Amino acid sequence: MLSFADFDTRGYRTVDVRTGYGQWVATYEDTVEDAMDIALLEELAEPSWGNVRRAADLGCGTGRTAAWLRRNGVSSIDGVDLTPEMLAVARSRKLHDHLREADVTDTGLEDGAYDLVIASLIDEHLPDLRPLYAEAHRIAEPGALFVIVAFHPHFIMTSGMPTHFTSASGEHIAITTHVHLISDHVMAGLGAGWTLAEMREGIIDDRWIALKPKWERFRNHPISAALVWRKQG
Ligand SMILES: C[S@@+](CC[C@H](N)C(=O)[O-])C[C@H]1O[C@@H](n2cnc3c(N)ncnc32)[C@H](O)[C@@H]1O
Repeated sequence: MLSFADFDTRGYRTVDVRTGYGQWVATYEDTVEDAMDIALLEELAEPSWGNVRRAADLGCGTGRTAAWLRRNGVSSIDGVDLTPEMLAVARSRKLHDHLREADVTDTGLEDGAYDLVIASLIDEHLPDLRPLYAEAHRIAEPGALFVIVAFHPHFIMTSGMPTHFTSASGEHIAITTHVHLISDHVMAGLGAGWTLAEMREGIIDDRWIALKPKWERFRNHPISAALVWRKQG
C-alpha cells in the first residue's frame, strides 16, 4: 500500500479523524467545495434517487450529503460517523432518521436493510478500503447500489496535499490521509462481491479555477472520482 508521507509537500501537523473533524466542524461546510462530490453525484446516471427506499450515509459528517439526497428525493436516511461534533450538527438538522456514532467498517446497522449505501469524501481516511466495501455489502439488500465518492489518488500525489483545514488560530492541520489507487477501489469492490455499474472522474475545470485561482497549475487533472456499485440481486 502507498504511504501519503511519500507525497506530502505540506508537512502540516497531522491529527486523527476524531480530533481533526472535531475542530473542523465549525467551518467545515464553508470550506468543502460542492465541485468535489456534489457535481459528480449530479452526473451519475443511477441511482434513480427518487426511488430509493432507505439509504445508509456512511461518514455522514454534518449532513451535507444527506441534504443533497433529500433535495433529490431520498426521504429515509440513516447516518454513521466517528466524530461526535460532526454528528451533533447532523442531529440538529434532522435530515436523518437515525444517527449512530460508529466506524464505517463496523456500523452496527442491520444486514441487507438498505437499497442505497453512500460514502462521500471519507475514503482517504481509511487505511484499507476492503473493510468499508465489505461492510457496505453486508448492509445492502440484493440489487442495492453503493455510491462512493473518493479523493482522487492522482490529485493527492500531484499536489502533495492531505485533507486539511485551518484552525481558529490560523494553523493548517492535516487529518490522517491515505492514498488509494483506483485499482484499490476496484479490487476492494470486486472482492466484497460488488459489480461496478458506473464511474465518473471530476477534473479541475473552469469552475474549480474560479474557486481556487492558484490551482491553474492543476487544470485538467482529476481531483475526485465517483464509483457506483451494484449488489447482485
Ligand atoms: C470530509 S467529511 C465527509 C462528510 C460528508 N459525507 C460530506 O460529504 O460532507 C468526512 C467524515 O468522515 C468521518 N469519518 C472518517 N473516517 C471515518 C470512519 N472510519 N468511520 C466513520 N466516520 C469516519 C469524519 O468524522 C467526517 O465526518
